[in-house]
Amino acid sequence: MQDVLVFRRVRAVDPARGLDAEIDVVVEGKLITRAGPRAADDLLGVGVAPDRVRVFEVPGALLLPGLVDLHAHLREPGQEYKEDIASGLAAAAAGGFTDVCAMPNTSPVNDTRAVTELLVHKARAVGGTRLHPIAAITVGQRGDTLTEMADLKEGGAVALSDDGRCVTRSDVMRRALEYASTFDLPIIQHAEDHALTAGAEMHEGAVATRLGLRGWPRVAEDVIVARDVLLAEYVRAKYHVAHVSTMGSVRILREAKSRGISVTAEVTPHHLLLTDQKLIGYDTACKVNPPLRETEDLVALREALADGTIDCIATDHAPHSPLEKDCELSEASPGMIGLELCLPLMLGLVEKGTLPMARVIDALTRAPARVVGLGAPTIAEGAPANLVLVDPNRAWKVEAERLRTKSKNTPFMGQTMKGMVLATIAGGAIAFDVEAKGR
Ligand code: DOR
Ligand code: ZN
Repeated sequence: MQDVLVFRRVRAVDPARGLDAEIDVVVEGKLITRAGPRAADDLLGVGVAPDRVRVFEVPGALLLPGLVDLHAHLREPGQEYKEDIASGLAAAAAGGFTDVCAMPNTSPVNDTRAVTELLVHKARAVGGTRLHPIAAITVGQRGDTLTEMADLKEGGAVALSDDGRCVTRSDVMRRALEYASTFDLPIIQHAEDHALTAGAEMHEGAVATRLGLRGWPRVAEDVIVARDVLLAEYVRAKYHVAHVSTMGSVRILREAKSRGISVTAEVTPHHLLLTDQKLIGYDTACKVNPPLRETEDLVALREALADGTIDCIATDHAPHSPLEKDCELSEASPGMIGLELCLPLMLGLVEKGTLPMARVIDALTRAPARVVGLGAPTIAEGAPANLVLVDPNRAWKVEAERLRTKSKNTPFMGQTMKGMVLATIAGGAIAFDVEAKGR
């Protein structure tokens, strides 16, 4: 066990400090103790015995602040055959995430302090990447009775969401926003007017018509986002939109932000990269909720992420087993895994020139940390050592055996990704090390 970690001649990118430079970074204990050009030279020359020092020196490697995921389904308690806390956190660490927020649509639902505390305790025992519970807004996620928010916050919840379900009743949403704001908890909305999406299998558009499948129209998301923005403005509460998927939502968010309303939003890698065309082969791996949309939405989402209208990138990591996916599209559960693919996919958009590196890294680190009130990860002397080392040039094939998640539901299976996480450091400890476990 080495107690000094040295990252030598890495390209360190930290948008929080406007940093993008080749430097050395030294970690001792839980902290970054040095960060600067040739900052490790004297340390490696003399003094510290080499067996106490682990040196990472990979030409072309990127060193980033630890990634923060606002939206993952870790399935524990209740559906451990899809994922559990240990496998979910291992997948997160392998994907470069030092902090993961776990959605409450488990079985039972995380609508009580007991479940919140169970998650916190189990994750602590696992170690490595940290878990931050998101508890339910309403009891059983049924949309009518508010949960005991003060209790949930004391138990460790960092936000509230009925994700998987939308809080459709306006009176409930109003009270949820008001009540949550007294505890400074953000409300995260899964924006879907269920009355408009009953029986939907994919995005409502020309492709759905051609395939004879029932559609989920954009407007079912837009009407909820528009109403919620008005409510958040009225009661002056913090409101966050999960997995934005439509150009209409983008327009509403942009207008809301320009008027100074306290709204934030996230987008998933799959909504930035894939469209409803992917459903032409009836591939259940491409069934997600909200559904993959059309090119004009994808373009609007990319623009919104670039200009900050959409603050964060979140995975919506949604593991499912063959039981839920090896069936007809109408029967299949929505969702795809994302924790181990997010960073390579996003670096791919940076390499193509679609999105600027600094904005993408900000959207994966500081912006999500801010939404849930975590300390912003940063690469600076004296800061907690939350870091991810990536080789942006190293390619790897997405294969079931390679992934740490228990589930394999991704349309990227078999594809070659460029960009490999080499090491993830959470609180000064090595949470993932490609050399120890192999890729
Ligand atoms: O695709 C999705 N999967 N969207 C959701 O809202 C829920 C999630 C899940 O839990 O599988
Ligand atoms: Zn959702």
